[in-house]
Amino acid sequence: MLKIIVCVSGGGTNLQAIIDGVEKGAIRNTRIAGVISNNAGAFALERARKAGIPAYCVSPKDYGNRQAFNDAFLEQVNSLAPDLIVLAGFLVILPEKMIQAYRERIINIHPSLIPSFCGTGFYGLKVHEAALARGVKVTGATVHYVDEGTDTGRIIAQKAVEVLESDTPVSLQRRVMEQAEWVILPMAIDRIAAEHTEDSVHKKREGCK
Ligand code: GAR
Repeated sequence: MLKIIVCVSGGGTNLQAIIDGVEKGAIRNTRIAGVISNNAGAFALERARKAGIPAYCVSPKDYGNRQAFNDAFLEQVNSLAPDLIVLAGFLVILPEKMIQAYRERIINIHPSLIPSFCGTGFYGLKVHEAALARGVKVTGATVHYVDEGTDTGRIIAQKAVEVLESDTPVSLQRRVMEQAEWVILPMAIDRIAAEHTEDSVHKKREGCK
């Protein structure tokens, strides 16, 4: 069983896709052990509570400086002992210590086809505004591992979405979510859970020898 935690900052539609995926069996062998937000008002926390998942807020506003926040955040993560950390619209730069401690065990969903429209300053609606301003005809979403850079980690899954003449940033954002993000994020978790289960079986067998 893959124990995951989901980090969120806003509406939490990707979190909802994960909750639904686990409930309906599209994501197998996975348990959501907790949801952490940096923002007490995030609707994502409501979604977690409604699904009976422990929901926590660790806000920079409650700490005197960045280091104190980073330490508290990492402590909250560690206390849940996750196998995998899923960043689902989490708009906080992760402490480097956390990236080192959880290497290849943190994944992020980004609303474009990396390496387009990614990196510092590209998040949420801004990504879709940039895609429309550039006039691309195809955009999409990417699931990738998190490393020390911004959106630079190894790519796990991508899905393309057509841009329409009539699109606004909001309509494009919605279509990218519906057609790409809510599809590839649950798929990626399911695949990682399958690998994790295989690994555990293998380790158990090795232990018996
Ligand atoms: C999603 O579109 C996600 O891809 C994006 O924020 C939105 C969160 O929506 N993430 C980034 O831009 C990260 N660089 P949600 O809270 O409804 O899942």
